[in-house]
Order: sequence, then C-alpha cells, then structure tokens
Amino acid sequence: MRHSSPSQMAAAVLALCMSAPVLAQKSTADGIAEYREMLQDGNPAELFEMKGEELWKQKRGPRKASLEQCDLGKGPGVVKGAFVELPRYFADTGRVQDLESRLLTCMDRLQGLDAQKIAATPFGKDEQKNMEGLVAWISSQSKGMKFNLPQGHVQERQMYEAGKRMFYMRGGPHDFACASCHGADGKRIRMQDLPNLTRNPGAAEGFGAWPAYRVSSGELWSMQRRLNDCFRQQRFPYPGYASDVTVALGVFMGVNGKGGASTAPAIKR
Ligand code: HEC
Repeated sequence: MRHSSPSQMAAAVLALCMSAPVLAQKSTADGIAEYREMLQDGNPAELFEMKGEELWKQKRGPRKASLEQCDLGKGPGVVKGAFVELPRYFADTGRVQDLESRLLTCMDRLQGLDAQKIAATPFGKDEQKNMEGLVAWISSQSKGMKFNLPQGHVQERQMYEAGKRMFYMRGGPHDFACASCHGADGKRIRMQDLPNLTRNPGAAEGFGAWPAYRVSSGELWSMQRRLNDCFRQQRFPYPGYASDVTVALGVFMGVNGKGGASTAPAIKR
C-alpha cells in the first residue's frame, strides 16, 4: 500500500466502501478508521495542498499580486496556525469570516479578482478549483494543532449564538435540524456514524476534518461544500457560499471543538 499511487489507493478505498456490508459486521467506523490509517502516507489531498501552496505564491488577477500578504487572522502572510482560529472577527471588513470568506476578501482586495463571481461559481469549476487547493494547503499548515477560536469580540459571540440557533432550528419537509442528526452521541444513518457536533470529541473530529479529500468523488471538499451537502440532507435550500449562515455554523462547531486537534485536510469516504 505504501508505494501505491493516490489513484490506486483511492480505487482500493472505493472498492472497500462498496463492500460496506461486510465492513459493517465489525463496525463501519472501525473499518474506515483502518483504511484511513493505511492511507496516511498517501492522502491524495497532498496534491491539492501542493497546488494551493503554488497558488498562494503566484502573482494572479488584474493586480498581478500573490496572496502572500493575505491576513488570515495572525497577521499578513502568517499561515501556520491560522486555520485552527477560524472563523474569527476581522477589523478591516468588520465581519466574522471563515477561511473561504477570508480568502475571497484577499483575492478581491489583493489580486483584484471578483469575489462575488467566485462565490457564485459552482463547486469544482474555475476559480472554485483554486479555492480547493488553497483551503487544502492552508488547513494543512495547522494539522495537529488544537482548535482555539477566539470569542473575545462581541461579533464572535453573536455568531456563536446565531450558529447555535441555526443548528437547532427545525424545518423543511422532515422537520430536521442539524441537531436531529448531529446533536447527540451514537447516532447513525445507514452505515455512517454521525458525529455529535455539540461537544468534543465529535465537534473537533467532525468540524476539524474539513476540508477533506472525498474518495467517493475524488474531489477536495471545503467546509462550505460539506455544509451544502448537509443542507441538502436536511432538505433546506443551499446557503450562499461563505454567507453568514455558514460562518455562524462554523463558529458554533469550531468553538465546541476547542482543544481538539485539527486533522484537515482529512480523507473521507
Ligand atoms: C439528515 C441528517 C443530517 C442533517 C439534518 C445534517 N447532517 Fe451533517 N452529516 C450527515 C451525514 C450522513 C454526514 C456524513 C457522515 C459520514 O460520511 O461519515 C454528515 C456530515 C457532517 C459533517 C462532517 C462530519 C465528519 O465527521 O466528517 C459536518 C461538519 C456536518 N455534517 C454538519 C452539519 C450541519 C452544520 C448541519 C445543519 C445545517 C447538518 N450537518 C445537518 C447527516 C446530516
């Protein structure tokens, strides 16, 4: 396994996922944890990380500037440790921002790219593909570090409250809330164990794994995309990309995960 290419390994995991009923006998979670361990030396997310690092340094956009002066919360250009403190409040925009939303600000202000256009671009296309690389690389620079989202600013505390309300708000044809699936320990849907995102270890493990490489689709999913998929499962309309709703949910989950270690970009089924 050690010397297999990422695509060979991805295929192997996919095959194992398809034979999930067999795995289920010993617990799907154990099975997936085992394969995750086997894959540790070759998480295909690394390919996205490499691309992201290049993109960070590359002069792009109408202003022909790199992102190297982007302030992710720890000062211009500081990438290490930034991910485990996001979302947080930024004085220059007067808003609480998550990684994607902050990158949009930097791409817009430093490079002259059109943030609204990028936010409206479908996942996996054009500038959104670049976003995948960037979030993969930036999150990798905090791997193993502990979540420590700041809650000192009043807007950060308001966002936590807003996220909490959102998390418990029931609605849609099935009267689901995030909490219906992620509000208690030991829940599962079909083969999947659902993390309890209201406290650790579930909050740090569930929130702190994304962005992640998805073996089933061969794509790198940012937290924004992960959340969209849960809005779909909840039968809610998709939230706006990097909108306050998604940022608030990020603050709620991230603060709940305080002290847990980040594994992003992880590898997921
Ligand atoms: C109908 C059930 C359902 C609802 C409602 C739901 N989710 Fe999910 N969620 C899932 C499933 C299924 C997964 C994937 C678990 C897996 O693949 O192991 C998931 C995964 C996640 C993950 C990643 C967890 C991990 O361990 O990788 C996060 C974070 C998350 N959901 C957040 C939310 C939020 C926030 C909401 C509310 C907006 C929500 N979910 C609503 C079913 C749901």
